Amino acid sequence: MELRPFIAADLRALYEIDQACFPPGISYSHEELVKFIAQPNSKTWVAVEDGRIIGFLVAERQPRRVAHIITIDVLEAWRRRGVGKALMGAAEDWAGRQGLHKLYLETAEDNVTAQRFYESRGYRKVDVVEHYYSNGSAAWVMAKRIA
Ligand SMILES: CC(C)(COP(=O)(O)OP(=O)(O)OC[C@H]1O[C@@H](n2cnc3c(N)ncnc32)[C@H](O)[C@@H]1OP(=O)(O)O)[C@@H](O)C(=O)NCCC(=O)NCCS
Repeated sequence: MELRPFIAADLRALYEIDQACFPPGISYSHEELVKFIAQPNSKTWVAVEDGRIIGFLVAERQPRRVAHIITIDVLEAWRRRGVGKALMGAAEDWAGRQGLHKLYLETAEDNVTAQRFYESRGYRKVDVVEHYYSNGSAAWVMAKRIA
């Protein structure tokens, strides 16, 4: 598995992976995904195995030296093999190199797998946002300070 920066030709595959990874109401529309990836302050990494995209992560730099993880998606068949860990490591390194001091993200209240994943990387629950997703479900905000 290798990580590389996003290129425009990846877009279709990323959209299909996001649709496969999240239920309706939580997955992004094609337009939303394009908007997030194309923001000048955002950065997207793609995980590739044998020429095939198996996961990706979109992060954005925000004011006050904070990074926001917009989404991380790993195809089900490739989970628990360290792909998510590699993607988060790339985003955290990127944030650290820019002197950012905190990363945060939102994850659905019932997405226990994601919560365990983030906790394993040192993220902690700091807030709840009711009705965060378009399907009405709430999100945990989880955050981690970096040096
Ligand atoms: C969350 C997600 C990105 C994790 O990706 P992954 O490649 O499977 O994660 P890794 O293999 O790098 O796991 C790293 C560690 O996280 C924890 N973890 C990951 N999946 C877990 C699970 N299902 N249950 C408990 N802990 C888990 C473990 O500590 C794991 O280390 P270990 O395998 O050595 O025990 C992946 O499950 C996914 O894409 N889910 C669907 C989309 C999603 O929910 N994204 C996050 C939304 S905010």
